[in-house]
Amino acid sequence: MLEKFERYPLTFGPTHIEKLERLGGHLGGKVDLYAKREDCNSGLAFGGNKLRKLEYIVPDAIASNADTLVSIGGVQSNHTRMVAAVAAKIGMKCRLVQESWVPHEDAVYDRVGNILLSRIMGADVQMVDEGFDIGIRESWEQAIADVKAKGGKPYPIPAGASVHKYGGLGYVGFAEEVRAQEKELGFAFDYIVVCTVTGSTHAGMLVGFAKDGRERKVIGIDASCTPAQTKAQVLKIAQSTATLVELGKELDENDVVLIEDYAYPVYGVPSQETKEAIRLCARLEGMITDPVYEGKSMQGMIDLVSKGYFPKGSKVLYAHLGGAPAINGYAYAFRNG
Ligand SMILES: Cc1ncc(COP(=O)(O)O)c(C=O)c1O
Repeated sequence: MLEKFERYPLTFGPTHIEKLERLGGHLGGKVDLYAKREDCNSGLAFGGNKLRKLEYIVPDAIASNADTLVSIGGVQSNHTRMVAAVAAKIGMKCRLVQESWVPHEDAVYDRVGNILLSRIMGADVQMVDEGFDIGIRESWEQAIADVKAKGGKPYPIPAGASVHKYGGLGYVGFAEEVRAQEKELGFAFDYIVVCTVTGSTHAGMLVGFAKDGRERKVIGIDASCTPAQTKAQVLKIAQSTATLVELGKELDENDVVLIEDYAYPVYGVPSQETKEAIRLCARLEGMITDPVYEGKSMQGMIDLVSKGYFPKGSKVLYAHLGGAPAINGYAYAFRNG
C-alpha cells in the first residue's frame, strides 16, 4: 500500500512481537495476549510510535529545503522528543513548543524525562502556559512565524505528527508488517489494542487493517479525555490516508472503535487503576508502560479481558507505542512502588 511513498529509515526494522504469557495467565488464560514492541523500535532517543510516522514525513521536510523542524506537545511530550532526535539525526535545527497540558505533582516535571532529552539533543525548547488541546495551536503558528522572521526555513510538524498530510502512513505500514509476521507465526490476530490521543496511529492502523477487513478490530483506548475531538480526528485522518493510499473502500465513523472509559481523571494524570495496571504489567512481564498513554491502554486491555469483551480463544495484540521516559516525571505517584 505504501510503495509509491518515499521513506527515510529511522527505525531498526520490523518490531518484535512477544507473548505476554504471565499477564495472560494471571487474567485467566481465556485469551492469548501479545505485545508488538514499538517502544523498542530505534536507537534514536529511546524510540516510539512517532518514528514510524516521521519516516514518511522526513523526505518531504528535506525536499522543502527547510533548516528547522518546528513542533508542539505537552511538557512531557514523547513526540517532541522524537522530533528533536530526528532533527539531530538529519542535521536540522529544532524548535519545540511545550504547553502545560498536564497538572503535575512533581517539582522536577519540566526538567526530567522527555524534555531533559530534548534539551540534551539541542532543541530550542519554549515553555507556553496553555492547556491541553490536540488541535492546531496559536503558539505553534507563532513559533513557525518566529523561525521565519529570524531568517530560518521552518518545517511544521503538528502535535503527534497527526494532522500532517503523511501522518497516517507509518501505521498503515504497521498493519502490513503485522500481516507479514502473521504468516510466520501461523495465525492472525483477532484484535489490536492501541492508545489513541492525536489520532494518526489509530487512523493509520484502521486503513492498513481495512485491507483485510479488520478495521473494526482495531480497539482504540482513549487517553485524551476529550474523546469526541479525538474520534473525529481519527476519522478525518483515516479518510484522507485512505484516499492517499487508494484503499478503495469508504471508512465511516462506525469504523472508529474508541473506548472512552480509561482516560479519567484527565489527560496526563494516572488514576489508581492506571497505576495498578502499570505495576501489574511491570511485575508480571518486566514491561514498562507510562502514566499518560500506554498505562491507560494497558488498563483498558486488562479490564476488557477481565470483563470478557474478547471472545474466549481470541488472540489480542497490544501495540506498545513507547513513552517510558515520561515516567521520570511521575516519581511522586510511584514513591512507594
Ligand atoms: C507513548 C504514546 N502512546 C500513544 C500515543 C498516541 O498516539 P496518537 O497521538 O497517534 O494517537 C502517543 C502520542 O500521542 C504516545 O507518545
